[in-house]
Amino acid sequence: MALKCPKVQFTVVDIDSKRIAAWNSDHLPVYEAGLDDIVRARRGINLIFSTEIDNAIYDADIILIAINTPSMEKDNRLGAAADLRGIEQCMRRIAKVARHYKIIVEKSTVPCRTGDLISNILRQNSNPGVNFDVLSNPEFLSEGSAIRDLLYPDRVIIGGLDGTEGAQDVLKSIYSRWVPDDRIITMGLWSSELAKLASNALLAQRVSSINSISAVCEAVGADINEVSRGCGLDARIGSQFLQASVGFGGACFHKDIQSLIWLSESLGLHDVAEYWDQVLKMNESQMSRFVQRVINEVEGGLKDIRIAVLGFAFKSGTGDARNTPASHICNQLLRQGASLFIYDPKVPDEQIRNNLTVELDNRKPQFHICHDAYNAIAGSQVIVILTAWDEFQAVDWSEAHSQMIQPAYIFDGHRLLDASYLKQLGFHYASVGTHSKGRI
Ligand SMILES: NC(=O)c1ccc[n+]([C@@H]2O[C@H](COP(=O)([O-])OP(=O)(O)OC[C@H]3O[C@@H](n4cnc5c(N)ncnc54)[C@H](O)[C@@H]3O)[C@@H](O)[C@H]2O)c1
Repeated sequence: MALKCPKVQFTVVDIDSKRIAAWNSDHLPVYEAGLDDIVRARRGINLIFSTEIDNAIYDADIILIAINTPSMEKDNRLGAAADLRGIEQCMRRIAKVARHYKIIVEKSTVPCRTGDLISNILRQNSNPGVNFDVLSNPEFLSEGSAIRDLLYPDRVIIGGLDGTEGAQDVLKSIYSRWVPDDRIITMGLWSSELAKLASNALLAQRVSSINSISAVCEAVGADINEVSRGCGLDARIGSQFLQASVGFGGACFHKDIQSLIWLSESLGLHDVAEYWDQVLKMNESQMSRFVQRVINEVEGGLKDIRIAVLGFAFKSGTGDARNTPASHICNQLLRQGASLFIYDPKVPDEQIRNNLTVELDNRKPQFHICHDAYNAIAGSQVIVILTAWDEFQAVDWSEAHSQMIQPAYIFDGHRLLDASYLKQLGFHYASVGTHSKGRI
């Protein structure tokens, strides 16, 4: 936004002063291709990172709320409510500080009717004569391609209640500076909130659907890539998001489906809740099935076997390891007594460590964080590929094979590598969605 609207002043504030310090440094707190250049170009000009929250609230005409909305602890029901305490706290602060009309924009992903909660808090706590309009403008960017998604969005949704048309036009006028008008759509507030939850649920459902078919492929000797192609060429289905893998992860899919399940349950829509719960169950089963395959196929079991883990981020293009399948898989491998040598080009060591929480009787889990793929591979007997980083395709696999304990195994969770070449080199190569003996 700061890049595309050079005459608009953007102030980013956060209660976490370390994060703001990082945004003001050469080491930004998130990795995203192209982000550094944009921040460097606009920082200090029309893009300020600050901890002076009250000043920013006081001065602003529009406030975008992008606070985290994690899942609350589960009780015995299906799903989990989104934790909106951060948003509530923030609304109280805005109400207290504001002295003139402001547009409040929900950018965070929130359950349907959060707009009501926000409006009520603002109305009940505001200074006399100060009014607010509340809009929903969910963020659809995907980590790993965030800058491209922001510059060329498929759509921008602006939701508002009747009477907020003026505010919607103001927000629209910001996006119009780089997004074609026919891609900016307005709708009701509740529809906009639900469209975001539903989009994530549908995307995750597609991953679980193709992963469920990958299980069938492995059992019958079909090839998931061939099946995906055969399905994706149907224009009604389409080819995107049909790649089988170890499962979905990240900060959003899981929590947003949990939130949708919770919402459905609260509305008494039990069948709807059960339906979406199955998408999560399929995801967990895909990760466990991958581990089980490693256990079944490595002769002699995994105890004291050295495994090179290539990739820890929940997807390539990001350093984010929140809810990553790698965490689930590595913890299960550690439980089997394997020792792990983990390499990811972007995930900070601390994030990897924080994810490996398995507790073992009488021994410490054995894992080491490596800073290149060859360090992880040399001396290992097994390789598991858990993130589809391009650089793993560029590994010299002949050299890698010669440095491994034999027989050497590769379990490819993303079908990233050339199966026939690796088999020729002497690897036992298994990938998601194919039988280990290849196509039958
Ligand atoms: N990460 C994504 O790719 C993505 C994409 C679309 C939508 N979203 C949604 O955007 C929201 C934020 O996601 P995220 O991944 O950026 O979360 P995050 O945890 O990385 O960042 C949230 C930030 O909000 C700050 N914060 C919390 N309470 C605050 C308060 N009261 N005042 C000021 N700052 C406060 C935190 O310190 C943190 O830095 C979530 O609702 C998420 O579902 C995220």
